[in-house]
Amino acid sequence: TRPLKVALLGCGVVGSEVARIMTTHADDLAARIGAPVELAGIAVRRPDKVREGIPAELVTTDAMALVKRGDLDVVVEMIGGIEPARGLITTALEHGASVVSANKALVAADGAALHAAAEASDADLYYEAAVAGAIPLVRPLRESLAGDKVNRVLGIVNGTTNFILDKMDTSGAGYSEALDEATALGYAEADPTADVEGFDAAAKAAILAGIAFHTRVTIDDVHREGLTEVTAADIASAKRMGCTVKLLAICERAAHGGSVTARVHPAMIPLSHPLASVRGAYNAVFIEADAAGRLMFYGPGAGGSPTASAVLGDLVAVCRNKVAGTTGPGESAYTALPVSPMGEV
Ligand code: HSE
Repeated sequence: TRPLKVALLGCGVVGSEVARIMTTHADDLAARIGAPVELAGIAVRRPDKVREGIPAELVTTDAMALVKRGDLDVVVEMIGGIEPARGLITTALEHGASVVSANKALVAADGAALHAAAEASDADLYYEAAVAGAIPLVRPLRESLAGDKVNRVLGIVNGTTNFILDKMDTSGAGYSEALDEATALGYAEADPTADVEGFDAAAKAAILAGIAFHTRVTIDDVHREGLTEVTAADIASAKRMGCTVKLLAICERAAHGGSVTARVHPAMIPLSHPLASVRGAYNAVFIEADAAGRLMFYGPGAGGSPTASAVLGDLVAVCRNKVAGTTGPGESAYTALPVSPMGEV
């Protein structure tokens, strides 16, 4: 069988891990896909910073030229942010490649347009890695629960802030010390403001709400309060009340079903609640659906390897679709439900 050509955009914490696993697990991946997968190019911003083990001859700084090659089967975008990621993804789709993206900011801002571009090109757009690292959420909501009616998605979807809160709570570490550690461990975004001010969680809430409720939700629809106002004194007083503080994302269908809401804010969680025991950069998400009842998804929500796992799962899925000459589920037929940040008044 013809090898499938895959290009990587970005080779940081996640990208380098994806490249490493693609190389070391090449035989397994080929067996699962039904065709070998070939690393065709890796676009980076700083070639001097490329990690050991990345084949130098594949590295380029011209991402646009790479996606315009025309012979790529899949482009994996791990750059983050709106531009140049959006232009590169759109161009890749126009040139017939399917796209796997870890870019929550972009999908939360412009997912509908990206889905439309993918559909117009008969290509796939998958982004399991955009939400909660290794934890499968996009595919369970889109596929496993497609026959059910989801009413609520609630949980911890940002590893950095959970790590910070956990450190402050358990070791009495200061806020900036905890943030520095989260950055060093590869959990935080390139600009950690996105984590601590709740933009990252809000983007994930928008993506989850859109898929869960079959409607369009953008990050601007999400009410957002970050962590920057939470003090060590708040955490100590929560503790005295038998609680801990967590940054929650809450997406809900209104009781009468005519609207949806999505919000991100710090909340006091009783120590007896399962969310209270989510430690470090782990995430945990509850999904409540009519027939299924209450499901809990739990696991590593940030970091290079867990996020790479989600990217590779998507890579296998879109490659299988390529081999079968088909595409996977795109944006589900949506109803234009009104979205309000704080719910009904
Ligand atoms: N900065 C993100 C987090 C990475 O801390 O959760 C995973 O999306």
